[in-house]
Amino acid sequence: MVLVCFALQLQTEGLERTPQPPERGASAPGASPIPLRSIGLAPGESQVKSASRFYRKDFTLPILAALNQAAPAYPTVTLPMSYETEQENFWSGNFGDEYTERNQGALHEAALLHFFSEVLGHTGRIGSAIEFGANRGLNLSTLRRLLPEVELAAIEINESAVAHLRTLPGLDVKAQSILEFDPARTYDLALIRGVLIHVNPEKLSEVYDRLYRSSHKFILVAEYYNPTPMALPYRGHQERLFKRDFAGEMLDRFPELSLRAYGFRYRRDPLFPQDDISWFLLEKSRM
Ligand SMILES: C[S@@+](CC[C@H](N)C(=O)[O-])C[C@H]1O[C@@H](n2cnc3c(N)ncnc32)[C@H](O)[C@@H]1O
Repeated sequence: MVLVCFALQLQTEGLERTPQPPERGASAPGASPIPLRSIGLAPGESQVKSASRFYRKDFTLPILAALNQAAPAYPTVTLPMSYETEQENFWSGNFGDEYTERNQGALHEAALLHFFSEVLGHTGRIGSAIEFGANRGLNLSTLRRLLPEVELAAIEINESAVAHLRTLPGLDVKAQSILEFDPARTYDLALIRGVLIHVNPEKLSEVYDRLYRSSHKFILVAEYYNPTPMALPYRGHQERLFKRDFAGEMLDRFPELSLRAYGFRYRRDPLFPQDDISWFLLEKSRM
């Protein structure tokens, strides 16, 4: 009975039942493909016990010991990755999977064409771009339609989104968190859209640094704007959505950046509605 309750509890608290690709984490030999990433598994420690360490800290060891004995394989349970911040775990797990399913549609694609046409009017032709938090690649596909020759890269934490990205020809997919990304080269454009609003505010400066280091010309920041930092509920979740002047903070942080252009996309736009996004095109001065 205790075992059944435990299993039900795991499922209602966001555990996935979809196997994860093996390279994303170690799992106990012969057991389910749980991506037990960076959680410090001791040799021979079971998945069920490790899962509890992250997701059910209040479970007592005797219950775990019983579980390990009675259900050593626990074959279908998979866990979201364990990242440093709660926000990364949130996007790498079920919420991100469901978002990826929702994030499509011809009207949205038309609005993106309109949006990127305007942005490219300010940048001129670009040869390469990297997107931070690309989801299924709608922004990058739009760029490719407008600039068939452009070289593209994407960083994405959610594996179902990564699976979509991998179907896009010629795209360099970096399946990892932005907070782990170490830029090895620079691009004409580094872009981030609807992602800084979901990053743990304490980690924002790390993302700003990576955006800055990834670009030698332009940085596009398209996010929800507020002059002062604020948090607001997001689909019933707390601490998952934040608004502030992200681009202004980058301008303050990096004296070599200047504001090239900015604008707003309104959700009530009769032709090309978008989600009340303020966008800022920052330009890096040549050094
Ligand atoms: C709201 S969606 C925006 C997607 C896309 N940029 C767009 O404009 O449609 C946020 C995306 O960022 C990804 N993401 C969130 N935090 C991330 C992180 N720390 N590292 C990499 N990707 C992240 C999510 O998985 C999701 O695909």
